[in-house]
Amino acid sequence: MLAVYAQSFSADDPISGLVLGERPDPQVPDGWSTVRVKAASLNHHDLWSLRGVGLKADQLPMILGCDAAGIDEDGNEVVVHAIVGDPAWRGDESLDPKRTLLSEKHDGTFADLVAVPRRNLIPKPAALSFAEAACLPTAWLTAYRMLFSRGRVKPGETVLVQGAGGGVATALITLARAAGVKVFVTGRDEAKRQRALDIGAHEVFEPGARLPQRVDAVMETVGRATWDHSVKSLRPGGRVVISGTTSGPQPDDAQLTRIFFLQLQVIGSTMGTADELRGLLTMLESTGARPLIDREMPMEQATDAFTAMATGDVFGKIVLTR
Ligand SMILES: NC(=O)c1ccc[n+]([C@@H]2O[C@H](COP(=O)([O-])OP(=O)(O)OC[C@H]3O[C@@H](n4cnc5c(N)ncnc54)[C@H](OP(=O)(O)O)[C@@H]3O)[C@@H](O)[C@H]2O)c1
Repeated sequence: MLAVYAQSFSADDPISGLVLGERPDPQVPDGWSTVRVKAASLNHHDLWSLRGVGLKADQLPMILGCDAAGIDEDGNEVVVHAIVGDPAWRGDESLDPKRTLLSEKHDGTFADLVAVPRRNLIPKPAALSFAEAACLPTAWLTAYRMLFSRGRVKPGETVLVQGAGGGVATALITLARAAGVKVFVTGRDEAKRQRALDIGAHEVFEPGARLPQRVDAVMETVGRATWDHSVKSLRPGGRVVISGTTSGPQPDDAQLTRIFFLQLQVIGSTMGTADELRGLLTMLESTGARPLIDREMPMEQATDAFTAMATGDVFGKIVLTR
């Protein structure tokens, strides 16, 4: 089958290790099923994998991709939940110490076929296209959990989203707006700030700008470049929810004094459960909110898609189609 896979790692030139080529059809363990992939979306995770983060050289070649929507062996339209956990684990899958994401231990979704545990198959609502559904299992699910499960954001509160154009950032903006939250957004680029307004931001700012009011919660995926601003933007007792460190994990000043003195909460968040994915699907169906797709490209153009993500030339999700 045709697949997009990591052949080698490079911290400085991650795309040099990317290959589009033939791979054997997947082996299907008991309790697993195959999905014929119709659409699969890119995540920053795929670039981390090509840099060697979360993968070892002896696991190569590894088919990349966490997210997919497609057709299962029984002909059902499905969305694939990306967390593969220990079959013995009960409860919140994102807390399973043995969990992995597709493409970390098992081959990922950038292929004609992907094998997944049957419990990872979630019915795709007819109202969502395959491309829209393929945006959800990583970036959108992460945003949903950050806002509603971990951040406990309520209608009427004010939230700052750091970063405008990323997959998680656009999901945060859209979902927060749909939930009746006042949304502030920072973005490095004027055009992206304007587009953030178009998809639901109430006000947009340059990175580090003073806000008109302190916020109830900040949604962080950028890390070092924005951490100082995130902590300083919170009202006393506010919370910062962090799920990523795109610009690096070590802030110049962690702002520890401000964190204890203003009784701020720092809340980690990673991925989301299959139940949260069902909740996200229901929310999209009932509100009419939809994932913002930057571009759809055939899987054969994967190198262009990865280049766009690596250079930050993206607003929303990039989807590879079959
Ligand atoms: N923990 C989890 O489960 C989980 C799940 C999904 C993603 N993540 C992490 O979350 C991060 C975002 O993922 P993604 O897929 O949304 O990536 P992406 O589509 O590449 O988006 C990158 C985002 O980071 C912002 N950004 C990058 N460098 C910046 C800088 N120096 N200063 C300010 N903003 C900067 C961009 O904002 P602009 O609008 O300014 O360009 C954009 O919003 C990644 O680190 C990823 O690994 C974690």
